[in-house]
Amino acid sequence: MRVSEALDTRITCRAFLDTPVPEATVKAILAGASRAPSGGNLQPQFVWALTGDNLARLEAIVLERVAAGELADGATEYQIYPPVMKEPYKSRRSKVGADMYAAIGVTRDDVVGEMERFAQNFAFFGAPVGMFFAIDRGMQQGQRSDLGMYIMSVMLLAREHGLHTAPLESWALWPRTVRAFVGMPPELMLFCGLALGHMDTSHPINRWHAERAPLSEFAVLQGF
Ligand SMILES: Cc1cc2nc3c(=O)[nH]c(=O)nc-3n(C[C@H](O)[C@H](O)[C@H](O)COP(=O)(O)O)c2cc1C
Repeated sequence: MRVSEALDTRITCRAFLDTPVPEATVKAILAGASRAPSGGNLQPQFVWALTGDNLARLEAIVLERVAAGELADGATEYQIYPPVMKEPYKSRRSKVGADMYAAIGVTRDDVVGEMERFAQNFAFFGAPVGMFFAIDRGMQQGQRSDLGMYIMSVMLLAREHGLHTAPLESWALWPRTVRAFVGMPPELMLFCGLALGHMDTSHPINRWHAERAPLSEFAVLQGF
């Protein structure tokens, strides 16, 4: 698969089949992604990959609490979004949410529908593999960017294996629960989750693609 095809076909998959993913495939993806660059070659990524009963037990714990109305297991360990969202980010964020819910027929006033859909984050959208990415708390902005490059490499390699992914910052709302469940050392901070598996191509949510701003909105070319 060409890199451009992997990029073009990677979307945040929000409905998966329950087809298992072999351990060897998960290992190949995680090891292959470690070719991602990192400043000073620090390689600051830590990953946990869960499947089967192990994953089901963690999902059940969080889904039960979400169903009871809990949104998080305490304060988040890092600020996921800026406290004040300015333009154009504010509009982009609200548009992607509105477009996504419209794609599956959930209207903005359908609070129950939105909550049910949000809860799906904690079922990894039905994926057979759920991952967690963590980074040492002492690391700085640069290393978070390194971690992002590692995660992107995981997502692109997944495409080469015929698999899809969904990066999930929503799991950063449940750091204490994840930490206790997987045995994450206290010096590590949970950054996000990631669903991995085969896409359910029949689900309308996977037929919708999030828009992108045109090149002219973010790039300046000089001297060409
Ligand atoms: C670090 C990160 C965390 C994300 N967390 C979530 C999440 O918790 N739930 C969700 O539905 N989408 C999540 N997304 C997906 C974004 O909404 C998505 O990447 C964006 O809207 C662009 O759509 P695309 O990935 O389908 O191209 C996350 C993306 C990234 C990069």
